[in-house]
Amino acid sequence: MSIQSSIRRKTAPDIRARKHGEPIVMLTSYHAHTAALVDQHCDVILVGDSLGNVMHGFETTVPVTLDMMILQGAAVMRGSKRALVVVDMPFGSYEASREQAFHSAVRIMKETQCGAVKLEGGVRMAETIAFLSGRGIPVMGHIGLTPQSINTLGSFRAQGRSGIDWGPIEDDAKAVADAGAFSVVVEAVAEPLARKITQTIAIPTIGIGASAACDGQVLVLEDMLGLSPRTPKFVRRYGDLGPAIAAAIERYAADVRSREFPGPEHVYDMKKG
Ligand code: KIV
Repeated sequence: MSIQSSIRRKTAPDIRARKHGEPIVMLTSYHAHTAALVDQHCDVILVGDSLGNVMHGFETTVPVTLDMMILQGAAVMRGSKRALVVVDMPFGSYEASREQAFHSAVRIMKETQCGAVKLEGGVRMAETIAFLSGRGIPVMGHIGLTPQSINTLGSFRAQGRSGIDWGPIEDDAKAVADAGAFSVVVEAVAEPLARKITQTIAIPTIGIGASAACDGQVLVLEDMLGLSPRTPKFVRRYGDLGPAIAAAIERYAADVRSREFPGPEHVYDMKKG
């Protein structure tokens, strides 16, 4: 007997089909609880390797491992029901060869049961994207600013600010689309270039710091909630949870110190929400 959920989870082809439709809403999540909240409003949940910065306090995403991505990817799948869950392939897990990428992506998909993976790079990763897509692994591309290359880029600067720099980024977008990616994240790219790419390629573009001209948008959840100590300038804040959490912790500490604390009969009376 098969047990099927009545809720159908979105798939990579569903997102691909949104090219000329309603804008795609995407946010990051790394935990079951935040995934359940994001799931109610988003088409795609990205288990981004930004978890290295956000959860672990690393300066860059370079130290993030495949095991870290799989652990958090599985948590997000448990917490969500509707959204397509895309798990980032971390630095060092896919660049050496298309076979290395395949084995890493298969681990991610089997151990998390997510619906797709994301990897950084355009022209240089096109062969790998085609290899994975042709073997049952939906791939989301990521071009423009590619944070895993920080050590060769030197800084997290916006890309394509001058027209002379457009060519390679346009080539990357075309290569990723032609290789069979179902969508592509375009990061920190000037508005006219993001618009041109979005009008030119056949797959949806999902912008982060790349203007409203894209087919959808993604933000790091903790950045838009006001929980990250440092956020890029382009991030619009939809909450200010950092000070709210600090105030709650302060009240808790004061209650404990003044012995104003509920007894065990209340502690085990579980409240919902
Ligand atoms: O790792 C991440 O969260 C990302 C987004 C910033 C697109 O790749």
